[in-house]
Amino acid sequence: MGRPRRQDDVVTLRPRQPPDDDAIRHLNDKAFGGPDESRLISALRNDGWAAIELVALERETVVGHLLLSKLAVTLGGRGLRALTLAPMAVAPDRQRQGIGRALVRDGLQAAREGGWQAVIVLGHPDFYSRFGFSAGKAALLEAPFRGSAFMALELEAGVLSGRGKVVYPPPFGLGG
Ligand SMILES: CC(C)(COP(=O)(O)OP(=O)(O)OC[C@H]1O[C@@H](n2cnc3c(N)ncnc32)[C@H](O)[C@@H]1OP(=O)(O)O)[C@@H](O)C(=O)NCCC(=O)NCCS
Repeated sequence: MGRPRRQDDVVTLRPRQPPDDDAIRHLNDKAFGGPDESRLISALRNDGWAAIELVALERETVVGHLLLSKLAVTLGGRGLRALTLAPMAVAPDRQRQGIGRALVRDGLQAAREGGWQAVIVLGHPDFYSRFGFSAGKAALLEAPFRGSAFMALELEAGVLSGRGKVVYPPPFGLGG
């Protein structure tokens, strides 16, 4: 008897390559039920905001995608090397099987290796708190969002101590 099949046996993660883009667009359109996020992803890439982009592959099929974009964060007049984690999508028939978790884990690892200092996210508190994100760390940041879903993670200890300001890249359409 063989051991039970685990998701890790068949799903692999790697950086996005341009030939993935049609599949990434299909995936996001399906996961979000419309084209808004695919358009956002294209605009972020085209305008030079995309910093880290990963795909999850099941054999040759794209079943997950994560983008981390550059984010303008200033504290005490000093700019931080910060990212926002958005958007992320997993194929509807492959959700709640750990693919999203794997994408976030590898995305944050790539951010650490790239020398990024902090990551900001708007998302489910239960999901992102597993990676160390907290609303408390984001609470002193002036931003278009507030509350428990607006969370931050320091990749360099202490960088988010103090009052600051977050300005999202123009493609997010959040003003500045
Ligand atoms: C959100 C999303 C990327 C998560 O990916 P995933 O592969 O399903 O997530 P994982 O299996 O790794 O982790 C599951 C955890 O995510 C959280 N989660 C996933 N979907 C959720 C939902 N709809 N509501 C609340 N929590 C959710 C839960 O904490 C869940 O843990 P549990 O299964 O123990 O309850 C995926 O569900 C998705 O593509 N959703 C549609 C698009 C979207 O909303 N993207 C996020 C906004 S950018």
